[in-house]
Amino acid sequence: AHSVTVVGSDTRTVDCAPGQPLLDAFLRHGVYLPNSCNQGTCGTCKVRLCSGSVSAPEVSETVLGADDQANGYVLACQSTPTSDAQIEVPVDAGSGPRHPLRDLTGTVHEVSEIAHDTLAVTVGIDEPLEFSAGQYIEFVVPGSGTLRQYSMANPPSRPDRLEFHIRRVPDGLATDRWIFDSLAHGHPVEMRGPWGDFVHDTESDAPMILLAGGTGLAPLKSIALHALERDPDREIHLYHGVRHRSDLYDVEFWQSLADRHPGLRYTPCLSREEGFGRHGYVGDVLVDDFDSLRGFSAYLCGPPAMVDAGVKACKRRRMSGRNIHREKYTPAP
Ligand code: FES
Repeated sequence: AHSVTVVGSDTRTVDCAPGQPLLDAFLRHGVYLPNSCNQGTCGTCKVRLCSGSVSAPEVSETVLGADDQANGYVLACQSTPTSDAQIEVPVDAGSGPRHPLRDLTGTVHEVSEIAHDTLAVTVGIDEPLEFSAGQYIEFVVPGSGTLRQYSMANPPSRPDRLEFHIRRVPDGLATDRWIFDSLAHGHPVEMRGPWGDFVHDTESDAPMILLAGGTGLAPLKSIALHALERDPDREIHLYHGVRHRSDLYDVEFWQSLADRHPGLRYTPCLSREEGFGRHGYVGDVLVDDFDSLRGFSAYLCGPPAMVDAGVKACKRRRMSGRNIHREKYTPAP
């Protein structure tokens, strides 16, 4: 193993096994490094290599700019050390979730079809999982070792029964050929987690806007439930965008939650049909509903185009960029 030190205010050294990415090694030791996609596509995990060497696949300049690459930045999720090394993290690394990453085993409790091409899967896990509301885990697809990422929809207060919302990807290795095909009660599953920086900021008590596209609702459900556990009167405006009524799920759940929590407002939005909830994209509906979002915070999760449009809508209504948290879901084949 190589020892890798992260230098800065809080110097920490961890051992990195041969072939183990830097990010994996640090998170397993409960040392936070910024991270989001764990796939080399978002650039969130960039760190500067101050000494030592790593092996890593070539990185596109759209993920890590040419200047950064020339200045020794590497992606922690893709780089495995080939010597002892020192790294530096460019952002304040003291603030992120520190729940140690680990391998998890569990048993499927229930698989239910909740909307068109959409399943809710609950998994009982052998050892409760500490995580922050908004984080995700990776499922190991049996037989292939391939990993697929799904956010927890349950709040952290239910650490032993994880809930996931899974949309079918046509011909998808994980969805079509495994989860939708055969996954059922009692099946064992292997996972690892938790991952991700898209988490409920518990320091802030600003009123919250939650913008979800499709199964991007999952982490927002965890965040909303967590926020309401802490403050049952919290002001939360949830917009759930889908194309058709048949894609919408958890409607009764949110309606009855809103009956019990006067600060919660639930607004389903259909982009391709009328007759239920609001018609249009979540970002447009949000802009219609508010003259100003100054002093609000927002959490957005869904397909990239929806997230980008939602961020624009928040900024157009004067929300501060610092208060906008986002996670993009890109379907993996
Ligand atoms: Fe996204 Fe590493 S590039 S976490």
